[in-house]
Amino acid sequence: MNKSLLKTPYFMINESKLIENLEKAKHLKEISGVKLVLALKCFSTWGVFDIIKPYLDGSTSSGPFEVKLGHETFGGETHAYSVGYTEDDVREVADICDKMIFNSQSQLAAYRHIVEGKASLGLRLNPGVSYAGQDLANPARKYSRLGVQADHIDTSVFESIDGVMFHMNCENKDVDAFIALLDAISEQFGEHLNKLDWVSMGGGVFFTWPGYDIAKLGATLKAFSDKHGVQMYLEPGEAIITKTTDLVVTVVDIVENDKKTAIVNSATEAHRLDTLIYDEPASILEANPEGEHEYVIGSCSCLAGDQFCVANFDEPLKVGQQLHIMDSAGYTMVKLNWFNGLKMPSIYCERSSGNIEKLNEFGYEDFKRSLSQWSVS
Ligand SMILES: Cc1ncc(COP(=O)(O)O)c(C=O)c1O
Repeated sequence: MNKSLLKTPYFMINESKLIENLEKAKHLKEISGVKLVLALKCFSTWGVFDIIKPYLDGSTSSGPFEVKLGHETFGGETHAYSVGYTEDDVREVADICDKMIFNSQSQLAAYRHIVEGKASLGLRLNPGVSYAGQDLANPARKYSRLGVQADHIDTSVFESIDGVMFHMNCENKDVDAFIALLDAISEQFGEHLNKLDWVSMGGGVFFTWPGYDIAKLGATLKAFSDKHGVQMYLEPGEAIITKTTDLVVTVVDIVENDKKTAIVNSATEAHRLDTLIYDEPASILEANPEGEHEYVIGSCSCLAGDQFCVANFDEPLKVGQQLHIMDSAGYTMVKLNWFNGLKMPSIYCERSSGNIEKLNEFGYEDFKRSLSQWSVS
């Protein structure tokens, strides 16, 4: 398949870049004994799981279908967590997961009988401390519903569960900040953790970031594991797929209203939602901050403020030109939607060999079916 003939918009996952991240994950496992389960909420394009599987221990989920997908397509250990299960969810999930993690003591009490004997039982705890840039993504934010607060724990629960999960980091690139959180947890919950088999520290630890001190992280995780006699887990999402994937789009028009806007055949609201939700501008491969030609990279949706970023270029942009919107895998492909009836990006993988493989493509029928399958009689 020739890249220049592919129709935009499309995602291109780069196998070599993915393997670079996975090698770091493998190294972390080797030096620390930590087990790593891929957070499917961040990335669940199962067409590339055969590349990821040899490096990680399994998958973790945030809803019933993710559990099923992890079980079917990833294998290894399947962790099931949800902020709120229905009884039907628990019954469906209990048979196919290895660990079932409840978000509250009330859900644990209501459903433990369904899980016992089938999967290892866990509870999410909220340590009340966190590392997160934005309040929206901060599990320790005021009135947080995520996990049991320390002063609400009925400590007898530790006699009848196997493990606990903490998730309190978001894109934490600072190993010392993570170590400070671990120390706080050890101090606050240590005597209870000693009774357990496993402890998961959740996701958000950005150990694949350039310059991250993996050796220090590994030594700290190992020390925590030895101190409390537990198997440690991390649940990386973003760390695994960071910088692996471009969203490739085409400039379809250039308009001017004090500033020049290059309109592309994609939209943040439909294809890169977190750009909008977190107000974090995208980066464009072809841009050069020193370039003298400035453009708003505008979406083709109807939402007035829907834009990817403002970027500078060495040469004026032209209609028909392709742009690569970088780092577009995490919390992106899992959030695609059909707003405005825009064409959904296809998904490709560029193998280390240079071959391009198609993983998905979408058409009008997919759009139509997502809206109704039957009409009123
Ligand atoms: C419980 C849990 N585990 C893992 C993750 C994955 O986090 P990340 O993709 O930042 O590594 C998240 C993200 O929200 C989470 O809530």
